[in-house]
Order: sequence, then C-alpha cells, then structure tokens
Amino acid sequence: MSGLADQIVLLLLLVSVSLSPVRCLGNGASGEERTLAMVKPDGVSGNYTDEIKRIIVEASFSIVNEMFTQLDKETASAFYEEHSSRSFFPHLVTYMTSGPVLVMLLEKRNAVSDWRRLIGPTDAGKAKISHPHSIRALCGKDSERNCVHGSDSTSSAEREIKFFFKNVVSGDTASQHDEL
Ligand SMILES: *[C@@H]1O[C@H](CO)[C@@H](O)[C@H](O)[C@H]1NC(C)=O
Repeated sequence: MSGLADQIVLLLLLVSVSLSPVRCLGNGASGEERTLAMVKPDGVSGNYTDEIKRIIVEASFSIVNEMFTQLDKETASAFYEEHSSRSFFPHLVTYMTSGPVLVMLLEKRNAVSDWRRLIGPTDAGKAKISHPHSIRALCGKDSERNCVHGSDSTSSAEREIKFFFKNVVSGDTASQHDEL
C-alpha cells in the first residue's frame, strides 16, 4: 500500500515539475496585449461605470490599472491632438472636460481589437441599430457623446497608455522594470 502511495506522490511531483516551466513560459510569451479604455463624462454621470466594468471582466479582460480623473482643457486637447484641425474639436474638448472620466488599462490577448468590438461603432445612434449589444448602444447617444473610448491600434494604445499611466510601458514587463 505504501508503495502505491509513494508512486502517487512521485507522479504528482513529476506532473507539477513538468507543468511549472510551461506556466512560466506562458507568462512571458502569451501574446497578452494592452489597450486604453475610458468611460467618458456622460458614461460616468449616467452611472454606467459599474455596468461597463462588469462587461469588461465578463469578456475576460484584466483591469491592470484604473483612475478617475477630471480632464482640463490642455490635457483633453493633447489627448485628441490628432483631431485638432477638425471642426468638431472645440466641441469634443468641451464635452471631454464636462465631468470626470474613468481611465482603464486593459489587458488580454487581442485587447485592442476585442475592446473596439465590444464598444461598437463610433456613432452610438447607429450602434443601437447595428450592434444592439455593444457598450455604445447601451450608454451612448451619438457620434460625439458615445460614452466610451478605445485605442484604435496597438501604436495608439501605446501612446495613450503612456499618456495616462506614465510608469507603465505597454506590453513588455521587462522594459517596464528598466523604466523603473
Ligand atoms: C448605478 O448602477 C448600479 C448598477 O450598475 C445600480 O445598482 C445603482 O442602483 C445605480 N445607482 C443609481 C443612483 O442609479
């Protein structure tokens, strides 16, 4: 009997030893990606943050970092710099500074495209018809007051994450330690 018990212990040891390097490898090369998500002022004032975070966690994202912040005119203008020559820019800055926002650093495999898919089309009015289960259909109103933001590419994600979370470098934890 004790021989059998020994064999079982040995077997368990072998299994755990053979599994552990796989897990370590998984952490380093799992293809995890990061993106920047934001609940805009209408989403926060409309009490949608808890519901949106529930959807985020249900969709297997990790919320790596988050903060409520009130954007001022300079910060909002810098964040949307690429739109600064567009006619809607002054409106956009007024809207984005109209109340606090919730900024989140999300992580999962294919985080950038999966988050864009989850929030739905830019025009929340259209989203209500074409993507009724999207977050913008849930809490957005039109193409400006569309409730949530998501980085539109991995390079935007890197810029936007650095913009809000200066000490966190997108993706690579090794370079994150170098930065610190
Ligand atoms: C805000 O939303 C949560 C659920 O997301 C709900 O439980 C709560 O009652 C709401 N609060 C108000 C003031 O509407």
